Amino acid sequence: VYGRPVRQLLPEPADDVDPLEAYGADERPAAGRRPWLMVNMVSSLDGATAVEGRAAGLGGPADRAVFRILRGLADVILVAAGTVRAERYKPHRPTDEMRALRTARGQSPTAPIAVVTGTLALEVDTPFFTEAEARPIVFCPAIADPGRRRALEAVADVVPAGEDRVDLGLVLADLGRRGAQIVLSEGGPSLVGQLVEGGLIDELCLTLSPMMVNGLSPRVAYGAPPADGPARFDLGRALEDDDGYLFFRYVRRPD
Ligand SMILES: NC(=O)c1ccc[n+]([C@@H]2O[C@H](COP(=O)([O-])OP(=O)(O)OC[C@H]3O[C@@H](n4cnc5c(N)ncnc54)[C@H](OP(=O)(O)O)[C@@H]3O)[C@@H](O)[C@H]2O)c1
Repeated sequence: VYGRPVRQLLPEPADDVDPLEAYGADERPAAGRRPWLMVNMVSSLDGATAVEGRAAGLGGPADRAVFRILRGLADVILVAAGTVRAERYKPHRPTDEMRALRTARGQSPTAPIAVVTGTLALEVDTPFFTEAEARPIVFCPAIADPGRRRALEAVADVVPAGEDRVDLGLVLADLGRRGAQIVLSEGGPSLVGQLVEGGLIDELCLTLSPMMVNGLSPRVAYGAPPADGPARFDLGRALEDDDGYLFFRYVRRPD
């Protein structure tokens, strides 16, 4: 299911690379109590992140395989509420093979999904909450609506993290206290922008989809520039599938 062979272009050329093995062998050391933060996004050639409001139109079979592989590595999946709504998010549902791999690594069989929201406008009776094996976590500002908060507390851990908007540094610290060592963020672009601004990204897994789509979707990240200037990353690996998709793994360059 996971092991669609792809070609490796970098660091050295190789045929028939199993992405499950490649991503699984990468080192992701947590720095103290702060978990390793990886981001997974797909972009078109012209920089779009969605077709008709959803990322699925940019994907392909190998892209979906890498998406599932990266989820399989995560202790917690972190996503912003706009993406939960736009993509009609479902709970993490790994295969039996992935569950076994996770259990062997000492992880829970499924990763909880943590959502960042200011409005708490999330529907409690959707499969995202009702079918979750691992209880979702909802991060909100302290000023969030108390009524909505009570409703969500029935189906999720609701955690205030920041006064009038969610502070992603506090989110990662909370997830670290819960024992998470690897956090995977799946966006959307506004959330990735805040992670860039905060200098919080350790690894970017970027799929380049061989399409030009136009439209007005944002690019992979937007927001305020990081205080210390552009964050530099090193290209750790590039994979290519038969359909022309490229899978880049960038790791933050040490300071
Ligand atoms: N290409 C890809 O890989 C990819 C990945 C993910 C998503 N997408 C696409 O991206 C689009 C959605 O992205 P987006 O940038 O518009 O939205 P987004 O980042 O997914 O979500 C924005 C929402 O998240 C909440 N939020 C984010 N940061 C917050 C903070 N610091 N404090 C409080 N709340 C915060 C707010 O939710 P509330 O409104 O609830 O307050 C805000 O409206 C969709 O079209 C989706 O398909 C593409």
